[in-house]
Parts: sequence; C-alpha cells; structure tokens
Amino acid sequence: MLFTQLISAATLAALAQTGLTSATPVESRDVYSPPVLYPHTGTVWYSGQRHNVTWDNSNPPKSISNRAFILLRWGNLGTPVVLAHDFDLRAGRVEVTVPDVITGNFSVVLFGDSGNWSEDFVINGPVTL
Ligand SMILES: *[C@@H]1O[C@H](CO)[C@@H](O)[C@H](O)[C@H]1NC(C)=O
Ligand SMILES: *[C@@H]1O[C@H](CO)[C@@H](O)[C@H](O)[C@H]1NC(C)=O
Ligand SMILES: *[C@@H]1O[C@H](CO)[C@@H](O)[C@H](O)[C@H]1NC(C)=O
Repeated sequence: MLFTQLISAATLAALAQTGLTSATPVESRDVYSPPVLYPHTGTVWYSGQRHNVTWDNSNPPKSISNRAFILLRWGNLGTPVVLAHDFDLRAGRVEVTVPDVITGNFSVVLFGDSGNWSEDFVINGPVTL
C-alpha cells in the first residue's frame, strides 16, 4: 500500500514536472527585475519599524542568476543603503528594518537585474529639516 502510494506520488510529481515544463514558455533570460508592489504612494514608514517589501513574483524564470538586494533611493537619488540582501527573489517579499534617515520622500529599488523601484513614499526619521 505504502509502496503504491510512493509510486503514485512519484508519478504525479513527474507529471507535474512535465506539465510545468511544457506550460512554461522557453525563456533564456534568467535575470529578473520584478515590479515592487509595496511600499507605494501613500505609504508612511517610521525609522526603526520593520516592514515587508513586496513585489510581483508571478512568472519567475526557471533559474535566477542575479543576486537579490534592495537599495534605498532618496527622491531621484540612489543611495548605497542596503535594506536587504541575498533573499529569495521568488518569495515575493522580504522584511526590512527602516533605517534612520532625514524625514522625506524615498523609494526602494529591488535588484534584480537592472533594478526596479517602487513609487515614492514617506519615511519619518529622527531628524526633520
Ligand atoms: C520594472 O517593472 C515594470 C512594471 O512595473 C516592468 O514593465 C519592467 O519590465 C520592469 N523592469 C525591468 C528591468 O524588469
Ligand atoms: C512579513 O510577512 C510575513 C509572512 O506573511 C509575516 O509572518 C511577518 O509578520 C511580516 N512582517 C511584518 C513586519 O509585517
Ligand atoms: C514628499 O513629496 C511631496 C511632493 O513633492 C511633498 O509635497 C511632500 O512634502 C514630501 N514629503 C516629505 C516628508 O518630504
């Protein structure tokens, strides 16, 4: 009985694999820069809080060669501030801790390949100019 179950499980897995392979379009590009869903316009974060940055993880390529990291962007300026790194791009979210900043408009850039940034949102920091 157990043996039969194992066989059918293996068969199902094999079928699932086959189905998945044939349903997935041939995609040689394995770099991946999915669009950021959160934070977005209207989002307000406070320094020290933890939040999930989320992105659209539908249609991931079969293999992802590029390293995952998230940078903070200040207005139109990139910053070298790393909010998260080496997480699973397929997960669709990663928890970040909001750093101490001067209160202002920020966005996050998800890499990915060339990077895809979020809409502008506000971080309330310990310093306001
Ligand atoms: C960034 O996201 C947009 C959708 O918001 C998408 O059309 C575009 O291809 C993405 N950029 C890259 C480099 O993948
Ligand atoms: C981030 O998402 C995970 C999974 O949904 C959840 O367990 C966790 O509490 C979330 N973290 C925050 C800071 O909301
Ligand atoms: C963010 O940008 C908007 C539009 O430019 C501006 O009205 C607002 O004061 C800015 N917010 C902060 C906290 O700098």
